[in-house]
Amino acid sequence: MSLPVSDVNKQPDYRTTMELGAVLPKTAEVKDDHLYIGGVDMVELAKQEGTALYVFDEADLTDRMEQYVSNFHAMYPNSDVAYASKAFINKEIYRIAKAQGMYLDVSGGGELAYAQAVDFPMEHIVVHGNNKTPRELEEAISAGVGHIIVDSRIELGRISEIAGRLGKTQDILMRITPGVEADTHEFIRTGCEDSKFGFTVKDDFAFKCVKDVMAAPNVNLVGFHCHIGSQIFALHSFREAVKVMIEFVARVQKEYGLTVSQLDLGGGLGIAYTAEDEPSTIAEFAEMTTSAVKDFCAEYGIELPHLMVEPGRSIVANAGVTLYTVGILKTLPGIRNIVAIDGGMSDNIRTALYHADYEPVVANKAGQKRDRIVTLVGKHCESGDAVACDRPIQTPEIGDIVCVFCTGAYCYTMASTYNGQPRPAIVFVKDGVARTVTRRETYADLMVRDI
Ligand code: LLP
Repeated sequence: MSLPVSDVNKQPDYRTTMELGAVLPKTAEVKDDHLYIGGVDMVELAKQEGTALYVFDEADLTDRMEQYVSNFHAMYPNSDVAYASKAFINKEIYRIAKAQGMYLDVSGGGELAYAQAVDFPMEHIVVHGNNKTPRELEEAISAGVGHIIVDSRIELGRISEIAGRLGKTQDILMRITPGVEADTHEFIRTGCEDSKFGFTVKDDFAFKCVKDVMAAPNVNLVGFHCHIGSQIFALHSFREAVKVMIEFVARVQKEYGLTVSQLDLGGGLGIAYTAEDEPSTIAEFAEMTTSAVKDFCAEYGIELPHLMVEPGRSIVANAGVTLYTVGILKTLPGIRNIVAIDGGMSDNIRTALYHADYEPVVANKAGQKRDRIVTLVGKHCESGDAVACDRPIQTPEIGDIVCVFCTGAYCYTMASTYNGQPRPAIVFVKDGVARTVTRRETYADLMVRDI
């Protein structure tokens, strides 16, 4: 794997940091040419804590949680919002989600263990995954989780057997693949027909399976779930999915007499990764989904179900940034300018994996215009190891602190220790105070499981 070919004619955008629009975390400001987030000087923080460093604007992510909960409750009182922890997980984000009255979407036993560690109410947990192991299912059922999303017939048998053995009846939702092509990168699209997730509506497969799910002992089918993909800009995709789902629910109620009390629409709202991106707001997403549910329930003559959504990225992505120190500068004449930082694909695999775009700035020159085009490469033994390709930045020098915006989602949770790189610490900043909520991994941590 190598870097995408650089456009040598690309011109810088000459924007200063504060001109990066929706990319910036809520409390970003520039004072004396330094970038501040949560009232904390990012340059000083990088020096104190070392780099690479994940920093989260606590006010930003709390505000987004509040916006989700308040908009959904206002527009559709019988609803709840589950934070999709795969986007970013540590104990502190779970504590904050709990304090905000959110539910949690957990994928598997590890995420459930975090929830147990912070005494998250188990009835507010939704368990996902296309191949939850029997052990994970047993952990979830014995913990008393609210709902398990059943993804296949084989899994149905397992849940039923385990619940019976534990003397329980487990509430479940069936994951339906509604065949909607969402407007997003093909790798993170999940609702279309060629998908490993859920029961497809194609050839009436899902509809026929509902009968088996209803007949299975020790489980109680309370509703249906879908998730059409992630980083979705076109809100109409959600309306299309809702139509398929409500049509399905109406048919199931009519033909099988099943009372469907729950509808879970998954996550997927897109966010701004670049200054040019203009994503929909949380309120617009809430308006689109809740009005679609109301409209189609009216059209098909069914009662409004309890509604759930599972946002991940749109809660944490913009709140998070990554700080790095510039170590090496290289000019490849006629090819590109390389700026090597002290992290890379180990703390952010998204650029290598999806050719994701990010906005970088030099945090100690934050008030200056971005007058260079560079490729920010990492320190790993892999030619495709880059965090930002062909992006504008203030003229970088050795020792400068680079801040890459919008790294709050799917960076830490997809991080690795490739080349023996310890994973960065995570610092939450708020009201001028920085607190480390996950300490930096040490060399000893890397070896702690070895004999
Ligand atoms: N619910 C389910 C069942 C999901 O599979 C996902 C994400 C979500 C909710 C949350 O979706 P969000 O609101 O974050 O879009 N690693 C990729 C993203 C994979 C998303 C997987 N599922 C990335 O870095 O872009």
